[in-house]
Amino acid sequence: MRPAAIGDVPEIHHLLEQYAQQGNLLPRTMNELYRHLRDFFVVEIDGRVAACGALEIFTESLGEIRSLVVHDDYKGRGFGRLLVGRLIEEARAIGLRRLMALTYVPGFFHKLGFKTVPKDTLPEKVWGICVKCYKYNHCDEIAVLIELR
Ligand SMILES: CC(C)(COP(=O)(O)OP(=O)(O)OC[C@H]1O[C@@H](n2cnc3c(N)ncnc32)[C@H](O)[C@@H]1OP(=O)(O)O)[C@@H](O)C(=O)NCCC(=O)NCCS
Repeated sequence: MRPAAIGDVPEIHHLLEQYAQQGNLLPRTMNELYRHLRDFFVVEIDGRVAACGALEIFTESLGEIRSLVVHDDYKGRGFGRLLVGRLIEEARAIGLRRLMALTYVPGFFHKLGFKTVPKDTLPEKVWGICVKCYKYNHCDEIAVLIELR
């Protein structure tokens, strides 16, 4: 596992696109990925991106896990857990106190210590991203949160 590099962007884009088409993740453009590249960590296997995940900062205390995907060929091998562990470590290191995710797989996050929370307990700033989302008025994602201290 390592921080993402510029050359990973096409593969990250491809990985995210597959799940975005199924409606499981928000789509992200190549340009957006380049701009947010420093948020990303990847798991590399045989020179390919097998999994990726990103830490985005919302407020002085809250971060979000975004764009977490494990390639189908590598699911169930602990890479999701590994990435989330690294993102938690990173969030702690920079002084965030809470980390959230909006997800369709709350069971996965519960295994890693996150708890489901009502979405309206999260700060309004979070919804800055939601107003750009096609699911805005009918969001069915589940909010999960972990306290870092
Ligand atoms: C969800 C996802 C990231 C999990 O990655 P993974 O590498 O397969 O998961 P891991 O092998 O690290 O699993 C860690 C634990 O979570 C459990 N788990 C994995 N996927 C799960 C799911 N969908 N629901 C409930 N538990 C799950 C595993 O059984 C394992 O538990 P264990 O340690 O008790 O055996 C991966 O399936 C994926 O990319 N899904 C599609 C995209 C997506 O929904 N991403 C989340 C966006 S927020």
